[in-house]
Order: sequence, then C-alpha cells, then structure tokens
Amino acid sequence: MRRLEGISKLTGQMQYVDDIHVEGCLWGMTVRSPSPRGRIREIRFGNAVDWSQCVVVDHRDIPGPNEVFLIERDQPVLASDYTRHIHEPVVLIAHESREVCRAAVADVQVIVDEEPAALEYRVLPKPEEVQRGNDNVLKTLKIEKGDVEGALANAAHVVEGVYETGAQEHVYIETQGMIAWVEDGVVITKGSMQCPYYVVNALKHALAREESGVRVIQAPTGGGFGGKEDYPSHLALHAALLALKANRPVKMIYERSEDMAATTKRHPSRVRHRSGFDAQGKLVAQDIDVAIDGGAYVTLSPVVLSRGIIHAGGPYACEHVRINGRTVLTNSVPYGAFRGFGAPQTLFALERHMDVCALAMDMDPVELRRINLIRDGQTTATGQVINDGTDRAAILDKAASLIGLKSKCDEHASFNATHPYLRRGTGIAVFFHGAGFTGSGEVALKSRVRIAGLPDGRVEVLTSSTEMGQGALTVFTTLAADRLGLEPKDIIVAEPDTARVPNSGPTVASRTAMVVGRLVERACDDLQQRVGLDDGARGDVVRDAIAMWHRNNEGKALYGEAIYEKPPGINWDDTNYTGDAYGTFAWAAYAAEVEIDLRTFSARVTDFVAVQEIGSVINETLARGQIQGGVVQGIGWALLEECVQERGAMKNCQLTNYIIPTSDDVPPIRVVFLENPYEYGAQGAKGIGELPMDGPGPAIANAIAQAIGVSADVLPLTPERLMTMMDSAHV
Ligand code: MTE
Ligand code: MOS
Repeated sequence: MRRLEGISKLTGQMQYVDDIHVEGCLWGMTVRSPSPRGRIREIRFGNAVDWSQCVVVDHRDIPGPNEVFLIERDQPVLASDYTRHIHEPVVLIAHESREVCRAAVADVQVIVDEEPAALEYRVLPKPEEVQRGNDNVLKTLKIEKGDVEGALANAAHVVEGVYETGAQEHVYIETQGMIAWVEDGVVITKGSMQCPYYVVNALKHALAREESGVRVIQAPTGGGFGGKEDYPSHLALHAALLALKANRPVKMIYERSEDMAATTKRHPSRVRHRSGFDAQGKLVAQDIDVAIDGGAYVTLSPVVLSRGIIHAGGPYACEHVRINGRTVLTNSVPYGAFRGFGAPQTLFALERHMDVCALAMDMDPVELRRINLIRDGQTTATGQVINDGTDRAAILDKAASLIGLKSKCDEHASFNATHPYLRRGTGIAVFFHGAGFTGSGEVALKSRVRIAGLPDGRVEVLTSSTEMGQGALTVFTTLAADRLGLEPKDIIVAEPDTARVPNSGPTVASRTAMVVGRLVERACDDLQQRVGLDDGARGDVVRDAIAMWHRNNEGKALYGEAIYEKPPGINWDDTNYTGDAYGTFAWAAYAAEVEIDLRTFSARVTDFVAVQEIGSVINETLARGQIQGGVVQGIGWALLEECVQERGAMKNCQLTNYIIPTSDDVPPIRVVFLENPYEYGAQGAKGIGELPMDGPGPAIANAIAQAIGVSADVLPLTPERLMTMMDSAHV
C-alpha cells in the first residue's frame, strides 16, 4: 500500500497548523530569559508599541500550579522570579498583527541579577553553581550483574576508553506550532505533536481543569523525532493562556531560529568503558559509566538515561557487568527526547570501543564481535534471557560481506598508500534496540484502542497515536484491513482528537506498529465478536454484520476495544534494574565506507549497508524509508551536526550554520531486512522507528579511524575536529 497521505503532502494540500485559518485569530509570541541563571528583578515594557492593543500574559495568569506536568514538576510554565536557562519563557504577548507582535516582544526587557551558571556536565560543579542536591545530579541509575572487579582482575586484557557525543537538533521540517481557543468553556488546542494525552495532562494541571474542560487535537505533523514529545505541552499551555486572557483564538508558530535555540536537543554524552577479555577475546567484564547533560530541568532525562544504560552493554554476552548512569543539571536549554532515546549515545561508545579493543588485542573487529554476540539462552546486561532464534552472527556477516569488509581492506590500504590526499576506510557496528516502553512502562500506560463499526459497514480506527511521517496512518489501515479482510478504503483512521479517541499512549519509543498495532488487531477481533462473528470472518461478511448490527441498534455506537496486556513471561524489577527490559529486541549490523579528503578534512560516506532483523515487515517501502531516514540522521550526527553552545544555548541556530545532510551528502543506502516474526507484535512486527539511529555513528567513526588512524572517539567528526585529531596524532 502507498503512503495514504503521501499525495496530499506532496501537493501541498495537507493543512499543517500554520495553514489552518481561524477567524479572529491573534498571533502569540514569547519573551525569553536573556540569562542562563539568576533572579528576575524586573520586566520593562518599552514604548515602541501600543500596549493597550496587546494581550500580555505572565506567571500570574496561570490558574493552577505554575508547573509543566511531566515526570517531575520542576519546570515552570513561565518563569516567575527566577530563570534557569537562556531562552526560558517569561512573558507571552498576542496581537492581531504578526509584525506588531514581533516588535512588542523586542520591546520587552527581562532584567536578571545573574548568578553563576553551571554549564559543564562532565566536571563537578563549583559550590556556587550547585542547584540540586550537592552535585547537580538529577538522577542516577545502575545495572549490576556478577563481580566486575573480580573478573577485571583476572582478565587477560583490560581495555579502557572514553567516548563523547554532542547535542543534536531535530530539524523536523515543520517547526513547533499550536492554536488554542475556547469553545463552550472547553480549552481546545490543536497543533503539531506526538502525544495528545501528554498535552491533556499538562493543560489539566496548570489550568486547574477537569479532563472534560480540555481537548487536544493533533494537526498533521511535519516530523517530530522525539522533539514533539514534551515541548508541545509547553506551547499548548502558552497558547491556551493567551487565548483565555484574550478571549480569542491564538496561534503560536515558532520561527526556525527560535525553535532551534529554545527547544530540546539530543543529550550530549560521555561514556567510559573498561572491558575485560580472556585470552581468546571473550568478554568477561564490562564496567561502563554513562553521563548525560540534562540541561536546566528534568524533562525526559530519566527515561533517556534509562534506555541509554540498558543498551550500553550492547548485544553481547558478558557475565560481569556494571553500568552506572547519571544525568546532570546544567543551566542549558533542557535536553529531551531524540530518536533512540539515549541508546545512540551509549551504542556509539560501545561499538567504537569494540574496535578500539580489537586493535588493542590485535584481533579482527568482526571476529571479536562474532564470538561475543549473544547466543540464544544467554543474557543481556539486565539479565534478560534472549531466546528468539535469531541468528545474530548471520546479520553481522551479511553486513560485512555486503560492504566488502575483507576485500576493501587490502584495496583501501594500497589506495591510501598511493593517493596524494584521499583516504578510504570501512567500519562496522552491531547493535540492538528494544521497542516499546521500558520494563513495566507499557503495563503502566494501559493503552487502549477502539475500532468503531460504522452504519455503512466501514470501520474507524480510534487511537491517540499520531502520524508524523513514520507511517502510522498507513500501517493502521493495513492492519485493520488485513485483520477484517476489508479493503483499505473501508478503513478510516480517526484524527487524534482527545474528545473522540481513547488514550493509546504516546507516539514514542518505536511502539506504534508493534504495540498499538497489536491492539488494533485485537480490537478488530473484539468488534467481530460484538457483531456475532468469530475471528475468522472476513470481508463482506464483516461489513454486512456491522451494517446489520446498526439496523438492529438504531442510533447506538458500535465499538471493538482492546487494552494492553503484557506478553507472558515478561518480568522487570525496577528497583534493581534487572529482568526483561523489553518484550523483544530488533538486531542489526550497519557498515559504512568513508572517504576523507586531507585537503579539507571533510569525510564523506561513500557506501552504506544496513542489515536488520525486525520481526516481520508490514510495509516494505515505509520500513525502508524509516531505515534510510534514520541512517541519514545518523550521518548528520556523526559528521556534520554540531550544536555550538554559548551560555547554555545553541549559537548556530540557523540552517545556514547548522549543517544537516542533503542528498549530496548521502550515499546509496542498501537496506536488508531479515524476518523472524515476533509473536506479540502486530503481524509479527517489531518496532523499527529508532533503530537506524544507533548504527551510523559508530560504523562511520570506525571507518574514519581505520582510514586515517585517528581515535575518532568524539562525535560529530567535523572537518575541524578531524584536523585537530590528525594534528595531535601526527598522522
Ligand atoms: N520518522 C519520520 N518520518 N518522522 C518522525 O518524526 N520519529 C522517530 C521515528 N521515525 C519520526 C520517524 C521516532 S523518535 C520514533 S520514537 C518513531 O518514529 C515513532 O513512531 P513509531 O512508534 O511508529 O515507530
Ligand atoms: Mo521517539 S525519541 O521515542 O519520539
């Protein structure tokens, strides 16, 4: 099936939030903090605009607690007397004219008595920089298995390394945007978002309203990539506060530079590895320390850290593992979710480290990985027994042979020895990614899906899961059509409007096809039962039975429903961080070939292979698109995308100086799917949305290390960084 909304996006017919015309709508904009930390002494309004024509909102206009409802409630909706990062929202302004609104924002001065800001997560804060506990640590998490120190003491080889990654900006095509209005006493917000019910919770809390007093509608969303998990809650609150005060609809659309400067990014990370091996190269101990920069508020950092440490040991069998993780408060713009949720950071460290270990032990990097890959019956770092029948070594070998790892090695060596300025190399990374919420998270979510049978025999899929380019709309349509033996045209997927759809959970953690899709299937089964059919009924029989039900039950609604149920045998201990972290893992091996130009120090990826076992493939074109898109984002993170920080905020907040890959920077990406159906995923599928973000970083860094002999332990490997690395390595 083709992407259902593809044509309307391609032709520009799709109405994104900025395209939606609302009668009498005002523009809303934000006055932000100029300082990373300090007491707000005064807010000065100038006389460049006629303030009587502006609607102005500050913290005193918030009906409920001045808190954005998230994991913790430490973040204010609007800063009141204190600011903890540059660009923190302080005052909101609305006006009929966008230009006047802009001028009004520029006419407000926030005066801050600055206090010493903590801007570095890698070192202990100075006493005057401490703002939380005694070390600014927001959260620590730990995984421990076996006796790490004992095993390291007896290891034949111990190899250490330190690996760092920088922040990354999502650059979704559509910036953050929201419209708010009040209708019959209900606050309604409509905009670009991943998680309508997160926004509901935020509105309920800070506006002190019952659930019936708020309604959230997802507008077509031009990409989220994690950046529209929590931020839309802020923007919806801002727009709603202005709309309530103005008594008119208010639209807030961020400009690109504002979006880049003021909203979340991928967490910068530093990971230390100390690995012990026996004489044959078998891993006997992993000692891993993970630190991430949380920024000024907690946001989603605890769950990013959690996924980060759970993936930090990688797809390897090791008896003795200790993984310490911490997220640290700094006075930087808060970091948040970005495709992969901490796993890309820790898997970069691990898979770069495996090459460092191979070099130190004079082993072939593929061989080192192969002998350590988890085999069925063995366990992950949290003690989860893997028993899925997937041939992980075959995945690795497939990627290695497709890129030509062996043959290219000699070829590149002679090329590099003779070419005046070009250097070539290949690298590989093997990894896994768990989809769905971690541990007992899916159980806690209690996700619900409804399938309505309509009077004309068609069915409607009701979920709060959102389409944001990843294909949820098409996948849900396929799943419902296949389950009921109907045509795709007989399936309607409801607009995610919390007045109509149940809470199927947030659109995050690559859970939609696998977890919510499974609920769609089960709700279809439930619908069949309710019209007196058994599971096997298909096609016209189903349509007729639905239509008949309506003739017999005039004016009533017909629903099939499903609520999440944990797959059997899954047990997670959240206190000790042991057990089954995820229902299943997808497994992958990615390989890259690079070419570095020693005249400019720029590295290009010239070939890329992505091999993965993802359960079963529901829609090959969409799945391939997910992998290719993720690889491109990974190439950007590895080579180009550098967030230059100044006083805790992104300085290069424009697309002219924050460089993302264009088609010119991307090689052919060869995607291979190996299928091993997962019993509890829709049609046997596993989640794949984030998986492709994990592999490119380490594969590319390994290729660069091989080509020019630098350590390549820090991302992004921009020309400037490569030049510095080569200078200090004297190569
Ligand atoms: N693909 C597109 N085109 N746009 C997106 O915003 N988000 C990614 C991934 N792929 C994203 C995307 C992220 S961060 C996640 S968690 C998953 O899609 C979410 O969708 P899924 O649950 O359907 O995999
Ligand atoms: Mo994805 S980072 O879980 O939205």
